[in-house]
Amino acid sequence: MTVLHGIRPDEETARKLDESDPLSSLRNQFSIPTGASGQPVMYFCGNSLGLPPAKANYYVQEVMDEWAARGVHGHQQGPAPWFPYHELFHETGARLVGARPGEVIMMNSLTVNLHLLLTTFYRPEGKRQKILMESPAFPSDIYCLQSHIAARGLNPAEVLVTCGPSSGADCLETTHVLQAIEQHGDELATIMMGGVNFLTGQVLDMAAITEAGHRVGAAVGFDLAHAAGNVIMSLHDWEVDFAAWCSYKYLNASPGAIAGAYIHETHATNRSLPRLAGWWGNEPDTRFRMHLEETFVPVDSADAWQLSNPPILAMAPLRASLELFDTTGMPALRERSLRLTGYLRAMLESRPGCRYKVITPEEDEQHGCQLSIVIEGDATDAFATIEAADVVADFRPPNVVRVAPTPMYNTFHDCWRFAMLMGDRFGSPSA
Ligand SMILES: Cc1ncc(COP(=O)(O)O)c(C=O)c1O
Repeated sequence: MTVLHGIRPDEETARKLDESDPLSSLRNQFSIPTGASGQPVMYFCGNSLGLPPAKANYYVQEVMDEWAARGVHGHQQGPAPWFPYHELFHETGARLVGARPGEVIMMNSLTVNLHLLLTTFYRPEGKRQKILMESPAFPSDIYCLQSHIAARGLNPAEVLVTCGPSSGADCLETTHVLQAIEQHGDELATIMMGGVNFLTGQVLDMAAITEAGHRVGAAVGFDLAHAAGNVIMSLHDWEVDFAAWCSYKYLNASPGAIAGAYIHETHATNRSLPRLAGWWGNEPDTRFRMHLEETFVPVDSADAWQLSNPPILAMAPLRASLELFDTTGMPALRERSLRLTGYLRAMLESRPGCRYKVITPEEDEQHGCQLSIVIEGDATDAFATIEAADVVADFRPPNVVRVAPTPMYNTFHDCWRFAMLMGDRFGSPSA
């Protein structure tokens, strides 16, 4: 746990923390929206939509210019030809999630990628039909799993099983997840969970869940929407079978940005796996032989799950985003993130008797950037007063406010101002 309790809750200390932080200048590479006051807002919504890195414009313009200058020849020519454009992200994408370059492909969007991966990794057979997911789970994941189950002629109400926090608890206990895996045992075909829970910000023990899933013979995958660019992962070493994530949250790659998919190398190189196929998943050497080659020959990597030729304009901002992650490195970003989020928690908890509670676990390995704050009383109204003070955060009914200081562009001063605002709005009269 990052020890920040006891730190002085005053503005000068917050400013000093910013001045002495070696990564503070990263913020200059982002556009920060301006609020009603004319000053930059306190932007805590990187868990929902990150902010634009300055260089994104350059890469988008580059594609436009190349298109104008070369037309179709842009596929083969220019500073970043489009035919192999997706290959630009093999290494940087893999480093983000602790994978090997052949295990990661940036493509499509998150729910689409989950569908593609489940076609491969949900293979109900005999009594092994169930899928285990966490509760609460993100609705798109629930719909996605329900539809896969129904598409195989099975009943989602029987086959989709969940594991949630025990009564009265806010977050999941790893031991309960492991028990659920044990309990469903050889009836489990697949386990799919959010690596970081969207509502509570809790980081699940992905290594332990993968190991337990494999012990009972299930395929194990994670939705990493809230994990990519937020926490450090070792998907390859943990032997996670599959994963997918979006790039518009902590990765700052634009609204609805091109997403990521990971497939462990043992599967990525297995050409006989069932999958949905399209020409961009075919070996590049024969991809353009068209009607002369009617047999699909999958690329020997995660690229084989691609379907269409990718939207290059949409991919361009990813270059700016992943370059920043690569040059700074996840270890340094995570270290700063722990200090920022630890500081925010300490400031929020420095005023006793407030009508809110942070429900995100406090242990470093169980949280990322995000803190989820449960508001007592009329939370909708409360959130409106927070927003009116130039805070950009989000509200998940009935009573959770999510705030995520991100290490790329948030400051200790943002955190201090937000915590003081919360204390003023929701402090008890005597506090
Ligand atoms: C945990 C999680 N899963 C899935 C999704 C759906 O993402 P998309 O619309 O990119 O498919 C989101 C979106 O915010 C999410 O937070």
